[in-house]
Amino acid sequence: MLDKIQKLKKEKNAIILAHYYTLPEVQEVADFVGDSLALAQKAAQTDADIILFAGVHFMAETAKMLNPDKKVLIPDMTAGCSLADCCDAEELKRFLKDYPGHKVLAYINCSAKVKTMADIIVTSGNALRIVNALPKDEKIVFVPDRNLGSFINETTGREMVLWDGACHVHDKWNAEKVEQLKKEHPNAEVVAHPECRSEVLACADFVGSTAAMLKHVAVSPKSEFVVITENGILHELKKQNPDKQFYTAEKCACGECEYMKQNNLENIYAALLNEQPELLLDGETIEKGKRPIVRMLEMN
Ligand code: 13P
Ligand code: SF4
Repeated sequence: MLDKIQKLKKEKNAIILAHYYTLPEVQEVADFVGDSLALAQKAAQTDADIILFAGVHFMAETAKMLNPDKKVLIPDMTAGCSLADCCDAEELKRFLKDYPGHKVLAYINCSAKVKTMADIIVTSGNALRIVNALPKDEKIVFVPDRNLGSFINETTGREMVLWDGACHVHDKWNAEKVEQLKKEHPNAEVVAHPECRSEVLACADFVGSTAAMLKHVAVSPKSEFVVITENGILHELKKQNPDKQFYTAEKCACGECEYMKQNNLENIYAALLNEQPELLLDGETIEKGKRPIVRMLEMN
């Protein structure tokens, strides 16, 4: 299957982009594996004719907005995101009526329609940097992740208005589970993703996006780590750090994003072969949704 996919990729001048949360074999067949920020940057730069996005629906939408003339394929069109699903564009429109004069900052984990209503998109890899670059008195509504929003508020001293959404994977972690892991592995450093609750982040030694975690672990003098995010990251962590040990809550169902795992070698091959399912967006959505993404890439 790997050889067949590589051959098709070459024939069709296609590129496979994959998130760190996908299955190990999917990460291995990809041309580029990254966090949401790196994947958006890569999607903006590619000269391939076809982009196959092994991730979730909103990531493929972002790639399409940045490349309206390219074919964007997604192996399974139903690979969604619980966080993006928390924020309905019509509900957001009503919500924003209560906050005139506010800038809308949207985490990239949101639908294309929500992106059309945003002033700037952020990812977990650049949210602090972008918020810090905005004037101190700027009034901001942050959507859709209340956990990432609280983390930004606490770290920057801002008082952004927060939309009440969360990722069902990261939000399942709680302080008790982290403390248990710390007790089992007293020498481990705790690294956590900012989509987790503040009680969880308070137990962590390092908070960052998936790419930031990988960077941190590579330079940390510690040799053991408790990893508080989706378990797919363990593949790259182990690959980059064969001598280090990683622990996560295997027994509690906190670490698995079923949407990311909908990508597999079979549906990637079928998508490349048939050039289906193709992600399509209307021109107006592309035009309006692209602006805040480009703003983010410029501010990065
Ligand atoms: P990052 O890729 O920014 O770390 O976000 C993680 C995530 O949940 C992607 O859906
Ligand atoms: Fe969405 Fe959470 Fe899955 Fe990321 S891990 S794609 S935020 S449901």
